[in-house]
Amino acid sequence: MHNYRIALIPGDGVGQEVIPAALRVLNRAAEITGTFSLSTHEFPWSCEFYVRTGAMMDADGLKKLTDFDSIFLGAVGYPNVPDHISLWGLLLPIRQSFDQYVNLRPIKLLPGIKGPLRDKSPADIDMLFIRENTEGEYCGHGGRLHVGTPDEVATQTAVFTRKGTERIVRYAFDRARERRKILASCTKSNALNYSMVFWDEVVADVSHDYPDVEVTSYLVDALSARMILRPDTLDVVVASNLFGDILTDLGGALQGSLGLPASGNINPERRYPSMFEPVHGSAPDISGTNSANPLATIWAGIMMLEQLGETEAASLVMSAMERVVAGGKTLTADLGGSSTTSEVAQAVADALPV
Ligand code: NAI
Ligand code: MG
Repeated sequence: MHNYRIALIPGDGVGQEVIPAALRVLNRAAEITGTFSLSTHEFPWSCEFYVRTGAMMDADGLKKLTDFDSIFLGAVGYPNVPDHISLWGLLLPIRQSFDQYVNLRPIKLLPGIKGPLRDKSPADIDMLFIRENTEGEYCGHGGRLHVGTPDEVATQTAVFTRKGTERIVRYAFDRARERRKILASCTKSNALNYSMVFWDEVVADVSHDYPDVEVTSYLVDALSARMILRPDTLDVVVASNLFGDILTDLGGALQGSLGLPASGNINPERRYPSMFEPVHGSAPDISGTNSANPLATIWAGIMMLEQLGETEAASLVMSAMERVVAGGKTLTADLGGSSTTSEVAQAVADALPV
């Protein structure tokens, strides 16, 4: 039996409610499979911590996290602290220092959920987005000159390295190989005549190692339309940091509620812990009412189990979650129900086979 050390960072707002709820489900899955256990350590890092101490995390916080197998995060951000402080004080340092260069986002319409597309069913919407998470358009290079004058200049430079591009593309081919063996590469090489031409070349180079995977390049604008009109033709999608950011929000919308999408920030080499989180934020408008949907966090937990290698437990929890959603009886308000956070989590735990 393997014991995994999990760092918990519930963070702010509903993060404090969904993390314990999801953990109950994961622990139940551990009990049932009997193949692993989770030992958790909770860190109080959050906006509240910032207000108290002047920092989002301990000065040696990254060092403290290094020895964990995974990080399970709720949400950070609260109206009393500017968002750039909470983001740059906690989430981004973790993603960057731990070289979590893959941002993994399953986009799947669950049976029983009414998505926003009139004639699309769960069979049509099942994609896996792989977003580059460390460089590209979000590398932070640039500057401003003659600020506030008529001669003002602002530059924001995207940086694409061969190492950074190749490793994300290779990761995507590997995932495509495990699924429908089709890969969509998101590009814009008509207008971005250096970075995206380079991106396309790397995709073509890497594709030689994956003759069994069919890869198609789509311009990002056409790809966004395709996600709405022909989502059934998409399976694994690989995109740069900016394009992936935008397209995954569109994808999240296709899932029918912000209470569902989950994401993983992954260091595939396992040199550092990976971090799993719901996509939504701290939802200050509903926090403290036990009404947040815990499913996004449970889904993030499923991704964490997969990455830890506990694939049986991961698929058991996924099926349990799908049964609860399809049953339609125990749902939170965002999905049209009236159940609480704890009731939904309990229903998923109870739906696990004993
Ligand atoms: P949000 O995701 O917190 O909320 C947007 C809307 O969705 C709200 O109406 C909220 O009630 C609803 N919602 C969110 N999660 C839900 C859930 N699990 N169940 C039911 N309804 C849910 O985004 P918002 O309001 O823009 O941001 C609030 C704070 O969260 C900000 O400080 C922001 O910076 C932070 N944030 C943090 C993120 C993170 O930690 N990764 C991601 C997004 C926002
Ligand atoms: Mg985003």
